Amino acid sequence: MKVGFVGAGKVGCSLGMLFEITQHNLAGYYSRTSTSAAEAAKFTKSKHFQNLETLIEESDTVFITVPDDEIISVWNSIKHMHIAGKMICHCSGSLSSNVFWDIEETGAFGFSVHPLLAVSDRYRSYQELSKALFTIEGNEHHIGEIKSLLEASGLKISVISGDVKTRYHGAAVLCSNLVVALIQAAEDELRICGFSEEQMGDAIAPLLMGNVRKVLEVGTKKALTGPIERNDKGTVEKHMDTFAGLDREIYRILSMKTLEIAKSKHPETDYSELELLLKNQED
Ligand SMILES: NC(=O)c1ccc[n+]([C@@H]2O[C@H](COP(=O)([O-])OP(=O)(O)OC[C@H]3O[C@@H](n4cnc5c(N)ncnc54)[C@H](OP(=O)(O)O)[C@@H]3O)[C@@H](O)[C@H]2O)c1
Repeated sequence: MKVGFVGAGKVGCSLGMLFEITQHNLAGYYSRTSTSAAEAAKFTKSKHFQNLETLIEESDTVFITVPDDEIISVWNSIKHMHIAGKMICHCSGSLSSNVFWDIEETGAFGFSVHPLLAVSDRYRSYQELSKALFTIEGNEHHIGEIKSLLEASGLKISVISGDVKTRYHGAAVLCSNLVVALIQAAEDELRICGFSEEQMGDAIAPLLMGNVRKVLEVGTKKALTGPIERNDKGTVEKHMDTFAGLDREIYRILSMKTLEIAKSKHPETDYSELELLLKNQED
């Protein structure tokens, strides 16, 4: 099965390189700018296509690895070509295979294939891909073929429903980009306390890494510690009195979520006063 890529960016280069190394099945690249496709082809020792139609002809599976907003325009170009029997995939986390809503008329099969990973480098990220879980959804009669393609490159996969893609992508944002924002809030407050930029890593790393490790080892409930779990209303009240603006609201909202965990961990504890405090502090 030959695989071709439309879009020679970070995901296209990374996935293509992995396919080539593990299965020698890469047809090559077509991209908006010819130099991108040429560089990707050189990197992966595959072919640079100047013409989209030729890439489609020479590929059994086509990955559309362009920005999300461009996927439909690429689909609109290729759906009029001879694509019957081919697998057409995109890699968006938030869009489902429904973007290929009229694919049945073409005889091709549509899928979304999404790595749960920040792919940040065109030339290095392929080494990280096997650590990620790939979610796939799409044509139920042919999804086994996409599964086999990914598994043959050593990738972990999970089949999900197209109906939950937006929620699934939102969940991924919660545990990736939004964690970055949470760390920013902590850093901003530590800066007010007088911490230097050099000290920031030492201050945050053991807390952050220790918590992440623990949550992954034993789950959120067992990993939870701190004033909310201890039902320490006085401390939480002082934190709320000290923080202002967005950081205060972030603290309050996340404390309410933390309280849900604490309540299910200690059903015998009466957290009602703490709960009332957090609710009453709503801006
Ligand atoms: N990066 C991530 O962390 C990540 C993770 C999971 C999923 N994804 C998904 O993967 C897909 C690609 O993302 P990316 O991060 O690889 O993007 P990217 O690095 O910006 O690469 C996109 C590539 O597509 C080319 N392109 C843009 N419009 C095009 C068009 N109309 N026709 C042909 N080629 C076009 C670009 O242009 P040039 O030819 O000018 O270079 C570029 O090479 C997206 O759907 C994204 O949601 C990304």
